[in-house]
Amino acid sequence: MNRRYRKTIIAGNWKMNKTATATKAFAEEFKALLPKSKWCDVVLCVPAVDIAAALRAFKDSRVAIGAQNVHFESSGAYTGEVSAPMLADLGVRYVIVGHSERRALFGETDAIVNRKVRAALGAGLNPIICVGESLEQREMGVTMELIALQVKSALAGVSGEQARRCVIAYEPIWAIGTGKTATGEQAAEVCTFIRATIRSLYGARIARSVTIQYGGSMKPDNAAELLAHEDIDGGLIGGASLQADQLMAIIHAANQN
Ligand code: PGA
Repeated sequence: MNRRYRKTIIAGNWKMNKTATATKAFAEEFKALLPKSKWCDVVLCVPAVDIAAALRAFKDSRVAIGAQNVHFESSGAYTGEVSAPMLADLGVRYVIVGHSERRALFGETDAIVNRKVRAALGAGLNPIICVGESLEQREMGVTMELIALQVKSALAGVSGEQARRCVIAYEPIWAIGTGKTATGEQAAEVCTFIRATIRSLYGARIARSVTIQYGGSMKPDNAAELLAHEDIDGGLIGGASLQADQLMAIIHAANQN
């Protein structure tokens, strides 16, 4: 990570876990562990129904709340969906867009991801844009082409100033929830490539200010190694973010670097 130019962000992705009651209990435990000194930015992306409880529980703390999904229209006949202005009005600051689970299980294409990114930015939210290759794609040697396509299409029509508010999360699909982590070198190689792709779109000044995270089985025992790399500016953490002490251990690893 490079703190001079960009934020280090540790973000939890709870996926479809925890009730509002459990959110409150987590917050009490987590807040008791928060260090007093300056630390990296922390975001908790919780299920939509837990957002209100999370905002209440983390009010007056430095933990920002994020959503895990957003619709690309601001209102209308989209039963069951939640829009970016609705999230922003609640006080939500971040939203995960294009997670591989949503791409694979809910049919999110690069075009839909792009519309969601623009909707989030338009409402003042900071999108955490997920990109990543499958094991098959890695073995075929097309990782970089795929990543470039995902990054470029997610950012189509996004201005330079808006791009600075985006976070890119490199999440190799083969490492998500599998216990298999990319090595620091593998993760850094792709994160550096993502920054080069952003540089080709917006220039060096903007590229160096964008936070690029790694995600995929990041845990207390591998976080320090991953976060030691110049272009890895934080993590998007699934499983390990469900336990307050594990998430805090990763935050401590981020603060060490
Ligand atoms: P994991 O999930 O940490 O459980 O692998 C990461 C993610 O899907 O964002």
